[in-house]
Amino acid sequence: MLLEEVDRIRQDFNQDISETDSEKKLELVRIKYLSRKGSVTKLFEQLKEVPREDKPVIGKQLNSLRQEVTDSINSLKSKFGESKRTSAAEIDLTLPGTHFKIGSKHLLIQTLDEIKTIFKGMGFSVYEGPELESDYYNFEALNFPPDHPARDMQDTFFVSNDFVLRTHTTPVQIRIMEKMKPPVRGIMPGRVYRNEAISARSYCMFHQVDGIYVDTDVTFAELKGTLVSFAKQFYGSDLKYRFRPSFFPFTEPSAEMDITCYICKGEGCRVCKKTGWLEILGCGMVDPNVFGYVNYDSEKYTGYAFGMGIERIAMLKYGIDDIRIFFENDFRFLKQF
Ligand code: DAH
Repeated sequence: MLLEEVDRIRQDFNQDISETDSEKKLELVRIKYLSRKGSVTKLFEQLKEVPREDKPVIGKQLNSLRQEVTDSINSLKSKFGESKRTSAAEIDLTLPGTHFKIGSKHLLIQTLDEIKTIFKGMGFSVYEGPELESDYYNFEALNFPPDHPARDMQDTFFVSNDFVLRTHTTPVQIRIMEKMKPPVRGIMPGRVYRNEAISARSYCMFHQVDGIYVDTDVTFAELKGTLVSFAKQFYGSDLKYRFRPSFFPFTEPSAEMDITCYICKGEGCRVCKKTGWLEILGCGMVDPNVFGYVNYDSEKYTGYAFGMGIERIAMLKYGIDDIRIFFENDFRFLKQF
């Protein structure tokens, strides 16, 4: 009799489960069969009344029915769970997405990239040289004679008697002229070092870009044209500029280029020391003595050269008033660019 009951419940269950199409209905089915008052559970209560010798057979039947019912319910349950996760209707496309922080180029690299793009557009190639430089390249071949007071213009980190941390990127001009015959047209970016007191205006390490163009008949007018074109592309075409005579041992004549102050627009303020002008670079015609060091015929060739500080160029463009901020890696500064 009990075995017939088992069959009947199995049939009912199969019927019910085949009609179950939601998690809610499934829960009702579970309660109907497996809860404390469920029909499968009740069967086990009836087992008490079964004669002892029949118990093993009937018990086995009941256990296997309970297992079947439990398995079916569980597998349907996980099926509903899966379809819930993937069903398109459940995805809320209006929720904000996950925000992944990605890095960005440091302002100095961005500035250098921009400088490179502008000069490449004017036919310049990019060259690099060593940061640990010999006295010869850093000074001597650039027409700084030994003991010449001009060496005092740059406070040098001496590594030994003959080697220094380069104080400018100008020695790379010598290195490329030694390797190539004119025409030579290149820019030379890199890190330089100065043994200076650290302040808002100077740091012991910074970056420069030098440039050089040597060929037959290179003129000062071309130097001005190139630098004015660079400055207008970099700072904007309404830029005002001027060239002032200056001195560098490796150029003759030498000049410095100024642009109107970004703060006061030329009116005169604290940053430009009331002059209305800010210096952005040094330049000049390559001194014939320098050509002597690289075996260029100074009767045949002329050239111009220039050099600028990348931090300075960026500070003037973005109104940054302290050079140290470039090297502190403060996120609040970096993420503005
Ligand atoms: N080397 C100079 C400095 O560090 C800058 C400079 C001036 C570079 C004139 C040049 C140049 O190539 O022609 O102050």
